[in-house]
Amino acid sequence: MQFQVSTATADKQRTDCLILPVYSNGATLPAPTRAADRALGGQIAELVAAGDMRGNVGDTLLVRAPSGLPFKRVLLTGCGDKKDYDRKRYQRALRAAYAAWRKTKIAGAACYLTTESPKGADVYHRARLAVETWHDSAYRFTTMKSKQDDKQPAPRKLTLGATAKQAAQARKGASHGDAIGQGMSLAKDLGNLPGNVCTPSYLVKQARDIAKGDKQLTVEVLQEAEMRKLGMGAMLSVTAGTSEPARFIVLHYRGAAKSKAPAVLVGKGITFDAGGISLKPPPQMDEMKYDMCGAATVLGVFHALRELGPKMNVVGIIPSCENLPSGTATKPGDIVTSMSGQTIEILNTDAEGRLILCDALTYAQRFKPRALIDIATLTGACLIALGRHRSGLLANSDRLANGLLRAGARAGDEAWRLPIGPEYDQQLKSNFADMANIGGREAGTITAACFLARFVKDTQWAHLDIAGTAWRQGASKGATGRPIPLLMEYLLNG
Ligand code: BES
Ligand code: MN
Ligand code: ZN
Repeated sequence: MQFQVSTATADKQRTDCLILPVYSNGATLPAPTRAADRALGGQIAELVAAGDMRGNVGDTLLVRAPSGLPFKRVLLTGCGDKKDYDRKRYQRALRAAYAAWRKTKIAGAACYLTTESPKGADVYHRARLAVETWHDSAYRFTTMKSKQDDKQPAPRKLTLGATAKQAAQARKGASHGDAIGQGMSLAKDLGNLPGNVCTPSYLVKQARDIAKGDKQLTVEVLQEAEMRKLGMGAMLSVTAGTSEPARFIVLHYRGAAKSKAPAVLVGKGITFDAGGISLKPPPQMDEMKYDMCGAATVLGVFHALRELGPKMNVVGIIPSCENLPSGTATKPGDIVTSMSGQTIEILNTDAEGRLILCDALTYAQRFKPRALIDIATLTGACLIALGRHRSGLLANSDRLANGLLRAGARAGDEAWRLPIGPEYDQQLKSNFADMANIGGREAGTITAACFLARFVKDTQWAHLDIAGTAWRQGASKGATGRPIPLLMEYLLNG
């Protein structure tokens, strides 16, 4: 798929299809729509006046243009009431237009939804969202089906309309959107793949594929023997019940001088979480194949970094294993020693994410990060607290937390901050070890973050709990690619 920006006005655009905005409630036609309407002898205004196109968000109407005009069709796209037009409605309008486009055999389109200005999205973000949303709308996970059912030829070219003044920002937005969209598709594929395919070794292969042939990217992989040498007793206690080998992946993106401190991203890579001896109940246990979506996020970010080559340093760390019950599995009551030297009483083997992350956070601090961010499908409690709309954000630094919150708002990939503090941390007390790995029923997302915070010293650290945002259930069941837009916004424009 090819994305480009054009400064030609809508009526001069040579394209199979113009995608044009229309507001509801009899509002005057937006400039690009008006220009096309003039070329069409007032046909669009007539369709709107007659009620064929009401302009509500999600409405679309495809109309053929007479021969002789540079454009062959127009796809009128509803944007709703002009005074309510915001970034969310803009994305819904884009989605509706792309869905209508994909039902046809039309190969190319020029979208002029980008020239209108919704609340909360500047030119750069409009173009970026137009391309990101295209990737999201086009995404299908069919690799595990024996027959490919989508016979429709895929669109090949999307042109974004911009004024001369907007062009530079729009081009930047489109190229960032393409890289981020590709990264999200990769993360979705990894999330959607079943646990018998997407194993820790499979994630290693993905990391190596991303780094292949790029001088700025390198990958290091630690095997279990090396983890043992480093004293990663917490990480190793999780993998004890499975015969699938664990892996600890370290990716380096070096786009700036060595002296520049890196951002370090740590992604939870449990490729299947059965709960271990504290076995999960059967309903929806299949969804625990998504327990590596933090790892998929890190790989998606690195794919995007490779595409864009920004001047910065980023380290990605992926502790990866399975959490299964067996005769060799860790038992409730077992006490293990983490890489930091702190001992942990494992009261529930299903609280395994924090056990692999704590050793990864200890390891991460050798890179002296300017910001240390972990991303994890960590607690069911986060899904209860925030639903599927916002990721949970917990941090030891207001500056980093605010930077991430603002990035999420700009990128349309929101997070919401929850507190941490000693009043919650004391729930982790153990009679027999330095701490327990669970803090009781109350404030489960917060006590999980307090556990992680015990392994971070004098480093700006934030934790994103993506248990609610990383995948969807029901008819549109599947991975979402979140929070890649938030993290890329933070890295590129934070
Ligand atoms: N991977 C799960 C968290 C999860 C559960 C994410 C459901 C999304 C949906 C995690 O490893 C886990 O099992 N957490 C436990 C922690 C508890 C034992 C303290 C949980 O949330 O129940
Ligand atoms: Mn678990
Ligand atoms: Zn888990």
